[in-house]
Amino acid sequence: MPTFAILGATGNTGQAILTLLLKDSSVKVRCFVRSAKKLHGQSSELRDNKRVRIFESSLNDIPVLAECIAPCDAVFSCIATEENTPGCSIALETGHAVVAALSHIRCVQKSSAALPRIIVLSSGTINDRLCRETPTWARYLVWTGFSHIYADLQRAQAYYALHRSWMTAIFVQPGGLVHDKQSGHAVTTERDETFLSYLDLAAGMIECGSKDRADTEWDWVGVSVVPTGKTRINFKAPLAILRGCVWTILPPLYWVFHSAGLV
Ligand SMILES: NC(=O)c1ccc[n+]([C@@H]2O[C@H](COP(=O)([O-])OP(=O)(O)OC[C@H]3O[C@@H](n4cnc5c(N)ncnc54)[C@H](OP(=O)(O)O)[C@@H]3O)[C@@H](O)[C@H]2O)c1
Repeated sequence: MPTFAILGATGNTGQAILTLLLKDSSVKVRCFVRSAKKLHGQSSELRDNKRVRIFESSLNDIPVLAECIAPCDAVFSCIATEENTPGCSIALETGHAVVAALSHIRCVQKSSAALPRIIVLSSGTINDRLCRETPTWARYLVWTGFSHIYADLQRAQAYYALHRSWMTAIFVQPGGLVHDKQSGHAVTTERDETFLSYLDLAAGMIECGSKDRADTEWDWVGVSVVPTGKTRINFKAPLAILRGCVWTILPPLYWVFHSAGLV
């Protein structure tokens, strides 16, 4: 039975992947979360579900993370932030933890089984090839709105790449996302597209994670997922970009708002 782990199963992307995997009775799912209570509150079908195992822990607990991902064919790394927090490092911290867990599986557990493929949630904005059809002004605006997140994603990808001789990762780099139904998807190395639903993104990530191990076409390159049907517009996106631009241009202001409990 194919086995998948979802790191950050309580987030937008993690939840979408979980929703699709729960519909497929031929797979087992392992969820790594900070709060099992939150996950149960979001997904009622988890109760007494023999195909799902939940690991409640933190990224500092490498043995638990290793236990969660060891038997998996693929791991969906969806631990992230949507807030353009100055100095954010969650993507890099997750990369450190995942690489440490893989080393733990190899060195401490002395497992000779194939290591799971890591499917890393990233962003199309940081990939020149995927963005080549995007108007320069639009990419600049989005980059300014999420500059701290993108710097973190770039550092995380560079860190994973240091380990490419012994592990495998696929960086999934979508365009703007929106909560919508599934419209159909395609995985491509050529372009990204705004907007894409979280469910279509999830289906694309599952396609990446289900690839045969011998098929290395997408390993270590940025791939995007694009919709093949109609997807609605995310009208909240301009506001999120505008807000993120303020944290890029005036980073201390973020901490003023944060200490006042406003972000
Ligand atoms: N929004 C877009 O249009 C768009 C477009 C392209 C790419 N992206 C990328 O998508 C990512 C955001 O994805 P998303 O919307 O799925 O994020 P999200 O909904 O904010 O989910 C984040 C997940 O990470 C977990 N998490 C956060 N900090 C953690 C920590 N320190 N330890 C353990 N778990 C932690 C959260 O757990 P809790 O539930 O416990 O907080 C949650 O499960 C960003 O990297 C962004 O660049 C977004």
